[in-house]
Amino acid sequence: MKNISYEFVLRRLSTVLSVAIISLSVMAAVTGILLSFYYEPVAGRAYQSLNWINTEIANGALIHSIHDLAGNALIVTALIQIVVMFLGRQFRSSWLTAWISGILLTLSAIGLSWTAMLLDWSQIGYWRFRIELSTIEAIPLIGGSLRNILTGGGAVNTTTVAHLYTIHSYLLSVGAIVLAIIHLWGLLQQEKEMKGATVETPTAAVKLERSQQERNFSQTLS
Ligand code: HEM
Repeated sequence: MKNISYEFVLRRLSTVLSVAIISLSVMAAVTGILLSFYYEPVAGRAYQSLNWINTEIANGALIHSIHDLAGNALIVTALIQIVVMFLGRQFRSSWLTAWISGILLTLSAIGLSWTAMLLDWSQIGYWRFRIELSTIEAIPLIGGSLRNILTGGGAVNTTTVAHLYTIHSYLLSVGAIVLAIIHLWGLLQQEKEMKGATVETPTAAVKLERSQQERNFSQTLS
């Protein structure tokens, strides 16, 4: 029977997870684009427009739910991926592309969820954003500038919704998809290289097995 190592299982699992990550990113991006046909990034109108999508547009509630689900599932999957890659020791320099892109992808997924906080212009979103904004503002040196970039002047209003919407739907979503592609490519590329290396130079386990076989053979001869 083939001897399957723990590291091999973890490596395969991380490849499967990276396919799930790409699928979730594409699903979130496609449903996000569909939402944008009716969503209005305006302080007073955002809540009503999402309500309108949920109740009046054909399959609107389904598309909205898929977007929310895919976006949140992406965060969970990306975090699991980091743990699986860590246990599989894929943080080593040979796996660097997949490791770094995986970490950046996880950060973008969290960023996408964070920038969506104000997009529905609900009471919870508004007050949560105000509280988190005051924490950002307290960062030494760059706090004030960060607040201005995020809000577009300081106050939380339509400009803020527009800024967060642009960061969410153009910058971070494109970034997440590009990173998901690089992540899968990095994993597949490294798998291919490892396969080649196993054929040319036997691993320590294979070497040990061979030397044991040779020893057994010489014992039976003597
Ligand atoms: C990789 C792509 C994307 C990911 C991972 C993503 C993720 C998310 C997440 C996690 C939320 C918050 C869901 C919640 O309420 O729990 C959200 C909300 C939202 N996203 Fe995206 N998104 C993506 C792309 C887009 C794009 C391309 C658009 C529009 C052009 C968009 C528009 C929206 C809108 C309008 C909301 C607010 C809906 C709500 O509050 O329920 N998203 N997104």
